Amino acid sequence: MSGAPRSSAFPALRNNSPARACKTNHRNRVATTISPGICGEDATGSRLALGDKMGLMTTTHDDQNTAGPADSGAAVPGSGQQNEGLRVWINGHVYDDAAQAQVSAVDHGLVVGDGVFEAMKVTEAGVFATTRHLDRLARSASALGLPAPDFDTIRSGIDAVVADRSWADGKIRITYTGGRGPLGSGAAFGPALVVVAAEAYDRPASTCEIVTTPWTRNVHGAMTGVKTTSYGENVRALAFADANKAAEGIFINSDGYLCEGTGTNIFLVIGDDVITPPLKAGPLDGITRALLLKWCDEIDERDITLEQAQRADEVFITSSLRDVQGVTRWDDLTFEAPGERTKKIAKVFAERSAADIDPT
Ligand SMILES: Cc1ncc(COP(=O)(O)O)c(C=O)c1O
Repeated sequence: MSGAPRSSAFPALRNNSPARACKTNHRNRVATTISPGICGEDATGSRLALGDKMGLMTTTHDDQNTAGPADSGAAVPGSGQQNEGLRVWINGHVYDDAAQAQVSAVDHGLVVGDGVFEAMKVTEAGVFATTRHLDRLARSASALGLPAPDFDTIRSGIDAVVADRSWADGKIRITYTGGRGPLGSGAAFGPALVVVAAEAYDRPASTCEIVTTPWTRNVHGAMTGVKTTSYGENVRALAFADANKAAEGIFINSDGYLCEGTGTNIFLVIGDDVITPPLKAGPLDGITRALLLKWCDEIDERDITLEQAQRADEVFITSSLRDVQGVTRWDDLTFEAPGERTKKIAKVFAERSAADIDPT
């Protein structure tokens, strides 16, 4: 495989495309309209209420409790758009032309999702939390039974995709797979494949809307909490959120407790407490989550039901690409967002992460 020549004048990387479903409208919380969940369609197409499906709730639902149009299952808006300013590094070769950046048709990551990945934030200051992301990639690889990734090789890929470019906000994706393999679930033949890609990325608004998805996270799954490329459940749930006019879908776990979003961890302010589901509830060990737990003594990990969660005074979600994002609506509940505690925590995160680009 040979590298395509780099273009000499790389375009400036500010992405002016409109932000996705995030809204900045601030509304008062409607405490009288607490709903245990939204209605969706199950796999059989019959309409059902989430709370009823999970056996958590006894309330009956009518159409007023539905959160927007029925889930069409269609791809979220943005599909069909081009990656802006994409540069790809594959096993040592750099491509500025995405069409040239190709992998094997029998790569086991493609064939059965036998791969792991990381999504990282890049700003003018550089790539954030590289050490933590690489450590998590290695943990994910180990959980999936892949060979340990070579950090020096991946770091050289990261350097290559950000080199000589003027970043406003960008995103780096590391994908690490077993390489070529059988057309089934048997072990990959290898050698392992490393792809590092960078593109421009619009930072989302400081607030967004979320909905509870009608599917649960299996707490006891072999890959629970592991960042594998088998993200079909998240793709489906994010499309569901989009169809219900929200920017994120939230999973309850198979034990009936709050878990996480499709690509975010979730935090609640309830009275004086700030809480987030513990890792045993099945969420990804998010890097933003872990840093907040380290930097903010006030945050505790605790199991919480959806019913308890929706009595929260403030809700926020976190991820490497969103940082701390206040929630203005969760199903049919609305919140003043970002609330005071959310703002305080977001400020701590902004200050601490600006002071140390690679917090360990
Ligand atoms: C399922 C899931 N949960 C949570 C997160 C947030 O993790 P982080 O803060 O490391 O981006 C992500 C981010 O990729 C994710 O995919």
